[in-house]
Formats: sequence, C-alpha cells, structure tokens
Amino acid sequence: MKILSGTEISKEIKEELKKEVGRLKQKGIVPTLAVILVGDDPASAVYVRNKKRTCEELGLNSIERKLPEETGQEELLGIIRELNKKPEINGILCQVPLPVQCNEQEVIQAIVPEKDVDCFHPYNFGLLAAGIPKFMPCTPFGVLQILKRSGYETRGKNVVIIGRSNIVGRPLSILMSLKECNATVTVCHSQTKNLASVCRMADILVSAIGIPHFVTPQYVKEGAIVIDVGMNRVSDPSHPKGSRLVGDVEFEAIQGIAEAATPVPGGVGPMTIAMLMYNTINAARFQAGLERFEL
Ligand SMILES: NC(=O)c1ccc[n+]([C@@H]2O[C@H](COP(=O)([O-])OP(=O)(O)OC[C@H]3O[C@@H](n4cnc5c(N)ncnc54)[C@H](OP(=O)(O)O)[C@@H]3O)[C@@H](O)[C@H]2O)c1
Repeated sequence: MKILSGTEISKEIKEELKKEVGRLKQKGIVPTLAVILVGDDPASAVYVRNKKRTCEELGLNSIERKLPEETGQEELLGIIRELNKKPEINGILCQVPLPVQCNEQEVIQAIVPEKDVDCFHPYNFGLLAAGIPKFMPCTPFGVLQILKRSGYETRGKNVVIIGRSNIVGRPLSILMSLKECNATVTVCHSQTKNLASVCRMADILVSAIGIPHFVTPQYVKEGAIVIDVGMNRVSDPSHPKGSRLVGDVEFEAIQGIAEAATPVPGGVGPMTIAMLMYNTINAARFQAGLERFEL
C-alpha cells in the first residue's frame, strides 16, 4: 500500500507559497493573518502555535489575540469588528471550540467574508455550493491536493465520504461534485444504513467521523484510495505523553487491501494548515485587486 504523506506534499506546497509571498512582498504586500484564541484549551493552543509558526516559516505576518476563558460574546464580537476594519489584516480566524458562553455561528458570521480564510462564513459556503468558490475550505481542499499531487484522478470515480460536518464532510462533498473534480459522491452519516457495504463501493473513501479505528477492512474495496481525516487522541501508557493521535481508519489492517492511504499523524493534518496559508495569501491578493494564486 502506498502511503500518501501529507507532510511531504504540504512541504512542496509551502515552498510554492513561500515563493508567492516573496513576489507579493516585492509589490509591497505582506499577507497578514489575525488569530483569536479564547480560553486555555491545550489542543487549541497547540493549533494556534502551529499556525503562527507556519506563518513565520512562509514569511506571512501573524497577529495573535489571546483572550481569557471568561470573555463574553459581545467583547469577542467587538474585537472581530475591530479586526474587520483594519486594512493591514487580510485574514481573521477564531480558533474553535469556543467557551460555552460564546456562540460559534454568530462569531463565524461576524468575520467579514473577504477575511474569512477558514471559509466557514455562509457567504463563502454559498459561493462554494454555487460552484464559484472564492476561498477554499482548508481540510477538503487539502484532501484534493493530496489526491492531485499523488496522481489520483477524481473524474468519474465513486467517492464515499463518511461525515457531513460543515468543516469537512459537506464542503468536501460539494468540491468533489464540481466540474473540476467530476466525482460521483455519496455522503454518509450516523443514520446511513449498511454503511460498510456503501463504503465498499468507493474508489476513494474519505473518513471524517472522529471515532478511532472505525473503518475496518470490511469497509474498504480492493484497490481503493483511503483518506483518513480523523484525528483522535487515545490513551497510550507506553507513549511519553501518555496518549497518541490516531485516525478513524485501521491503517495496519487495510494494508493488503487499499491501493493507497493517508497516515495519522502526517496525512491530512499538515495539509489543513498549508491551505490556511494559501487562503490568507489569496485574501491579500483579492484585497489588492489581484487574481487568485492557483496551486
Ligand atoms: N486533519 C484535519 O486537519 C482535521 C480537520 C477537521 C477535523 N478533523 C478531524 O476529523 C474528524 C471529524 O471532524 P468533524 O469536525 O467533521 O466532526 P463532527 O462535526 O463531529 O462530524 C462527525 C460526522 O461523523 C458522523 N458519524 C458519527 N458517528 C458515525 C457513525 N457511527 N457512522 C457514520 N457516521 C458517523 C456524524 O454523523 P451525524 O451528522 O449523523 O451526527 C457527523 O456527520 C475528527 O476526528 C476531527 O478531529 C481533522
């Protein structure tokens, strides 16, 4: 089974992005991302740190607004409005999950669509559904890039996606069904009947559930490409941290069945951050009246 390394593919993409940042700087444009972190969730802190580090690596500016756990909704919306108005800030993201007193949907919709580099705003979601996306949903576009850069065509393929969330399953199903991909798409969820047999029809199987080792060999057709979006922390006393990250797929068990698969970690995860950088660069380009930078 071929291992589709998101770590390697994202490195290749980041090199291309770094060069584009260099070209933009010559035009006096420095793409700038503002990241809002509310509270002390350790996983969120790690994500934010990685995003900041990747900005530095590629030459983007990053600004962090760290807010206490007890921050109220109005205060948070006020900060977003302030960032919306600043012309030097091209992209804004608010790390989720938010503390209970904050309303995630309201926060997403408070970010102006031109700076919505996560592509979560209903306006950007609508453009995507209409087949005229402006920003690309980060994780789904990362999945497409893995397939494209590994030489796997989507045209005419049966793609089965397990999961219908607004950040992974649904936007990926839209992208896959657009003319640029031309796949035949099936979206599965917790109410899907005979899930394993539906999955066995997939030439490309994508799992975005969030349950460790859910996808066993009986879900996988011989020769399928398996993309594991799941990121699940499981306890492992033998690991120095006492836990480790695993995907949704029984990676070892599908070795003799699948043609190729993404590992966890080192699969879709690093692609998501690279695509966030891509969107921030394009936000800066759009705001300067330039066309999209294509990957
Ligand atoms: N690698 C990355 O960069 C990245 C990015 C985002 C997310 N993730 C990971 O991807 C996973 C999914 O994230 P998410 O935000 O999309 O999760 P989510 O919002 O919890 O959605 C999970 C989806 O899985 C479906 N599901 C749950 N149990 C199922 C079952 N037994 N059979 C079939 N479908 C089932 C749910 O169905 P219902 O709709 O019926 O409830 C739902 O549509 C998580 O592990 C997350 O950490 C990774």
